[in-house]
Amino acid sequence: MKELSLNVLDVTENSVTAGAKNIGVSLIQDEAGILTIRITDDGCGMSEEVVARVTDPFTTSRTTRKVGLGLPLLKLASEQTGGHMEVESKLGEGTTVTATFDTGHIDFTPVGDMISTMTILIMGSPDIDFLFIDRTPEREVRLDTKELRAVLGDEVSLGSPDVIAWIKEYLSDQYNSTGGQDQ
Ligand SMILES: Nc1ncnc2c1ncn2[C@@H]1O[C@H](COP(=O)(O)OP(=O)(O)OP(=O)(O)O)[C@@H](O)[C@H]1O
Ligand SMILES: [Mg+2]
Repeated sequence: MKELSLNVLDVTENSVTAGAKNIGVSLIQDEAGILTIRITDDGCGMSEEVVARVTDPFTTSRTTRKVGLGLPLLKLASEQTGGHMEVESKLGEGTTVTATFDTGHIDFTPVGDMISTMTILIMGSPDIDFLFIDRTPEREVRLDTKELRAVLGDEVSLGSPDVIAWIKEYLSDQYNSTGGQDQ
């Protein structure tokens, strides 16, 4: 994939499918240029057997086709920069996927458009709470849909066009005040 944001979208959709009520998406880059992407959910979780096989493209619970690629592709993108991916999960509790990247490596895939990734996720699942953080040593971009929901009240869906437009602008203002979202 040309942008890590698409891998993040894919892996976060697993959390949606797992029935999560709360999903965390964070991208934290340290002073040394190591980027840690973490997707955490309180969905159905996986058994130890499934976790052990989950980075293998022939593991999937899909019935339409046999190959699941979300996790293997994130793992590949990470490992090609010298990083690694870890999946921690507990049945009935949830799952955390953590992948590290060396942003200085020649094979590092740019992060790309996290605003689209987050708005697509929120539009598709307006009842799930997302906590999004994209932090580098220079800046922090943050969106907590719980806070937004508290302000908007119960009648307004987070997926409504007005709210989505507001979220886009809110995130893009945070990125722009710090030099844009592309790395
Ligand atoms: N967060 C999660 N919670 C529960 N199960 C998960 C989670 N993430 C992955 N899984 C399990 O691991 C399998 C493999 O995930 P993966 O994203 O690699 O492929 P997929 O979702 O099956 O297919 P694709 O992503 O290519 O559409 C899933 O089918 C699901 O059973
Ligand atoms: Mg998937």
